[in-house]
Amino acid sequence: MNKLAFEKPITLTTLSQLKKNNKKIASLTAYDALFAELISTSGIEVLLVGDSLGMVLQGHDNTLPVTVDDMVYHMRAVSRGNRGSLIMADLPFMSYASPDQSLESAAALLRAGAHVVKLEGGAWLAESTRLLFERGIPVCAHMGLTPQSINRFGGFRVQGRNPDQASTMIEEAVILEEAGASLLLLECVPVDLGKSITERLEIPVIGIGAGPYVDGQIMVMHDVLGLTLSNLKTPRFVKNFLAESKQGIPGAFADFGEAVRTGTFPSKEHCFF
Ligand code: KIV
Repeated sequence: MNKLAFEKPITLTTLSQLKKNNKKIASLTAYDALFAELISTSGIEVLLVGDSLGMVLQGHDNTLPVTVDDMVYHMRAVSRGNRGSLIMADLPFMSYASPDQSLESAAALLRAGAHVVKLEGGAWLAESTRLLFERGIPVCAHMGLTPQSINRFGGFRVQGRNPDQASTMIEEAVILEEAGASLLLLECVPVDLGKSITERLEIPVIGIGAGPYVDGQIMVMHDVLGLTLSNLKTPRFVKNFLAESKQGIPGAFADFGEAVRTGTFPSKEHCFF
């Protein structure tokens, strides 16, 4: 590996330690070697090879067309550019419909360089999460707005606004932690729910549109740079850090990390209530 951006490579232990010490975690998506290097050397602890690549790179309206082969291709490139961040990779739509299938898909991504795989869903993922954990594959559970279920939700909508839905989400997050999930990614939920889930879990909770009280923040790298395809809508939780960067693109990534660490991002305008 070339020069590390951190004293030591970031691991799940580093992230747990950050949570214990009340320090925030910064995470951005990356899909190729060059941006992986820029983001990693800007001090961002976690790189996500997100299936959002179906939208921001491939031009689809949602993430459903993305395949395991697509993910493996981008995962390999990101792994080559990474300089010590932890790399998480999405298992794409229908690549983890059964525990055995999740093992096979996750293995392909770990062979390509991923350190953690991310699966969208709730309690139904407990068996797969346990199986992956027992086989040495760390899992990040993704709850709240899970974009692979867009057809069930009827669009990209805030989740957990109704009290019953919110308490079910808390219960299911606990089930996934008990099944062995190492991280939780929480997308588009009201601030209070983000706070309750984060306080309830021991594992780090990384949010996107989940308010300021989670343990870390993640954004799609194109959003940090203010770049959006014309068929996509810019969500409320997005902030363009390039607009005020004094050091171009690397400065925008570093400013995002700093804003997460100091708690200046997200502010009220990026949150749901
Ligand atoms: O695929 C993706 O980019 C995500 C977002 C939540 C960051 O999962």
